[in-house]
Amino acid sequence: MIEWRDTMEIGVSAIDAEHRHLIEFANLVARLPKGRSQRLATMNLLSDLRELFRQHFEQEEDLMFRVEYPKVDKHLLMHCTMMTQFDMCLQNSEHDSSVLDTLALVTDWIVNHIKTEDTSLASFIFQRRQAVALAKAKTKPKAAPKQVAGKR
Ligand SMILES: [Fe+2]
Ligand SMILES: [Fe+2]
Repeated sequence: MIEWRDTMEIGVSAIDAEHRHLIEFANLVARLPKGRSQRLATMNLLSDLRELFRQHFEQEEDLMFRVEYPKVDKHLLMHCTMMTQFDMCLQNSEHDSSVLDTLALVTDWIVNHIKTEDTSLASFIFQRRQAVALAKAKTKPKAAPKQVAGKR
């Protein structure tokens, strides 16, 4: 189980909301009672979690292309490797213990990834926004000087 911490926020609200949701969902799976009778329910939730990861990566990759993030290839490869690992774990999850292993893998990975790669993406976005704002401010026409009443 992971507790969401403010230090995990990267400052891009849409992405933060998805990260928070991913972690809440992973915690939900972790809280399920363990045992053979619960295995199917757990596996179904893990599949749902996989789908949430896929959707999140898609959103994030879309954003990276829109902002022309220079490290997009590296970041994309990490997402892709994660999905492959997730799939392999799901296929191997024949015992309850490996379900827990899958969860541990997923949760450790997402926390590290948020704190490093996603934070780096967010920094780039902020710097880019600042540069755009600065360029706009520089090209803004200067206001005409106010005329003082009574003076010509
Ligand atoms: Fe990412
Ligand atoms: Fe992310």
